[in-house]
Amino acid sequence: MTESDLIAAARRARTFARAEFSSFEVGAALETSDGVIVSGCNIENATYGLSICAERVAMFKALSEGHRVFRRVAVVADTEAPTPPCGACRQILWEFGGDLEVILANLYRETGRHQLGDLLPLPFDKRLL
Ligand code: THU
Repeated sequence: MTESDLIAAARRARTFARAEFSSFEVGAALETSDGVIVSGCNIENATYGLSICAERVAMFKALSEGHRVFRRVAVVADTEAPTPPCGACRQILWEFGGDLEVILANLYRETGRHQLGDLLPLPFDKRLL
């Protein structure tokens, strides 16, 4: 499974986005430690507040299918500027995925690359409970 496969999966997931309210369609794809790809798209609804980002959909899908260890995540939006995970997604990705590699891309090219730990310095997690 190459990085291009992961980005392609995020691009494909994006085509399923339900973004009727923002028109901002996002796809995400997580790679598990055994090379499985689990993808997600953002899903908005009429309350706005119950909308959920592509990254959390991908992570919750993966967890609910029994995946426990992850290597990297790709996030795709149709923008020139990179679309990094929001704060809520950083927290969830960190708690369940650890210091993932985060690959950002648009429809044509990579737009950024980070370690999740750099995007979420001083995280709150179970070690502090
Ligand atoms: N969104 C994501 O799905 N992932 C991100 O990384 C940034 C934002 C979604 C949430 C909402 O449905 C839309 O993009 C606009 O914020």
